[in-house]
Amino acid sequence: MGFELHPIDPIGAEIRGLDLARGIDDPDFDRLRRSIVAYGVVVLRDQPLTPAQHVALGRRFGIPERGAFNEDTPDPDLILLTNRGRDGRMLSPDDVRLRLVAINEGWHTDSSFREIPATFSLFAAVVVPPVGGDTFFADLRLAWEALSPDEQASARGRVGIHDYAKAFARFGSTIPGNPVFELPAVRHPLVRLHPESGETTLYTSEHVMAIEGLPEEEAQPILDRLLRAAIAPERVYRHSFRPFDLLIWDNRKMIHRAQGFDPAHARVMHHVRIAGTERVVAG
Ligand SMILES: [Fe+2]
Repeated sequence: MGFELHPIDPIGAEIRGLDLARGIDDPDFDRLRRSIVAYGVVVLRDQPLTPAQHVALGRRFGIPERGAFNEDTPDPDLILLTNRGRDGRMLSPDDVRLRLVAINEGWHTDSSFREIPATFSLFAAVVVPPVGGDTFFADLRLAWEALSPDEQASARGRVGIHDYAKAFARFGSTIPGNPVFELPAVRHPLVRLHPESGETTLYTSEHVMAIEGLPEEEAQPILDRLLRAAIAPERVYRHSFRPFDLLIWDNRKMIHRAQGFDPAHARVMHHVRIAGTERVVAG
């Protein structure tokens, strides 16, 4: 079938000419996957996928992760993000599902709380609010390249502590005593080698709360500087969703964050997240 690839300014690419509901042949899939690794994030408009089609596409990339608090999902391999309950009524702001997603408003890569974090994320818009709910993306390879030699030296060989319990507290969404909000912290190298492209990337985010072996007063200025380099506005892509947009990104290269939205409006997103197969390799 073939497809067109249009780079987006400043990062990412839009893919045109695919109808994923009808499937994708192996040569196109290989090119799509390579495009995601190369561009970090790709946008496909007008892809009204059923949950089963969405999961089947995800399975071409690997094994989907299964999330917590996913009981309403139409498919166990699909994470349902919604602010409406099964009865159609708005979820209470105290609902554990809304508390859990609040953490996504900080810059992060998906599933860095795991020893082996996620590779690809396939994120589809079903119902979008009239304003808000955008997703912002930045490229962690460009972040690494934007650092001065001194800044690179401050990160190389270091280990970042990805601490979701602290991140939940920072984003105000914690539920004391609930084990989901008290995940143990995980160590990952701050400088990372992309296992497919061989690129060096900066593995930082707002979920990295400390640098192993450094006192907080030394670590925090370094983490702040690294994050600033990663999310420099001139290198950020902001995506405003239309219904049936499908975004696919490579978490080994990209950092992203969600924008909040007015909870009076419905928002329904379908997310399939692909489990990694190897530990993070230091760059
Ligand atoms: Fe995310």
